[in-house]
Amino acid sequence: MIPKAEIHCHLEGSIPPKLAVALAERNGLALPPNLFDEKGHYALTDFWSFLQAYDRVCTSLKTARDFRDVIYTYLAGAAGEGAVYVEMFCSPERPAALGISYAAWLAALVEGIDDAERDFGIVGRIIIICIRHLGPERADAMVRTMIAEPHPYVVGFGMGGDEAKFDPVDFAPAYRHAHENGYGCTVHAGEVLGPESVWASIRDLPVTRIGHGVRSADDPALMEELARRGIVLEVCPGSNVALGLYPDRASHPLHRLIAAGVRVTLNSDDPPFFHTTLGTEYDLSGLDEPALRDIARTTIEASFADDATKRRLL
Ligand code: ADE
Ligand code: ZN
Repeated sequence: MIPKAEIHCHLEGSIPPKLAVALAERNGLALPPNLFDEKGHYALTDFWSFLQAYDRVCTSLKTARDFRDVIYTYLAGAAGEGAVYVEMFCSPERPAALGISYAAWLAALVEGIDDAERDFGIVGRIIIICIRHLGPERADAMVRTMIAEPHPYVVGFGMGGDEAKFDPVDFAPAYRHAHENGYGCTVHAGEVLGPESVWASIRDLPVTRIGHGVRSADDPALMEELARRGIVLEVCPGSNVALGLYPDRASHPLHRLIAAGVRVTLNSDDPPFFHTTLGTEYDLSGLDEPALRDIARTTIEASFADDATKRRLL
């Protein structure tokens, strides 16, 4: 099995249907009736219905222990597919809405990460992620908390959510603050919107990685710029096809990006929502073993882990 690594996977987006049902039951909560389709998969047809499904899955969560169980379950499964390192996008918005403090939530995630490393040898790290459509003030507050309550496993700052809301420059103060305090930075761009969104992100934010960024393939000058600056794309082909960006994997630009010299990684994004896993992304990439080993190496290099951890994993 090829050793794998992943730097783009959302915490709540990793909850498989069985775990959502188990958590809801444990918490005495009813899941929304429209969460599943007739096959028992999460019901979604496009980006917006995906975001709604994501919110519905989160109704299964109640306690800090739930978050520990979610990250542990994901890391256990990823390790089973050969993953040695995973960075999870974790949003403090959910625990805050549930009345769980940042400290208690973080302690639960750290416990899940430590338990998974003890049981499976996999190394997990956390990227704190703000939600774009909630606006820059929430992002500023999040970065202040992240800096005020640091933990060595919290290695980066990022942003997901609706790419069409606000401009990257609106989040520049939050990103600058994170960057100046030593956090690696990434941002979702070039997924729902086109190349201009990636251009604005690499102009206005101190990012070394772009979440998705696949629409850069529509602009040769942008691919050249990404290659020149060594900016790494967190590519998630299964997610892109499931959300209708591309009709199938054959038309996905992964290979064109590589041919243009852009540094790419392979990731699962929100795996059970998109009927994928990290292993599936490697298996269905159409790349040979040396290319996949290169991708795994690039992933560790582009990760926000400290140098000693990187050296241990490379
Ligand atoms: N949040 C979870 N998955 C996401 C994605 N693919 N794009 C933007 N925000 C997200
Ligand atoms: Zn994502």
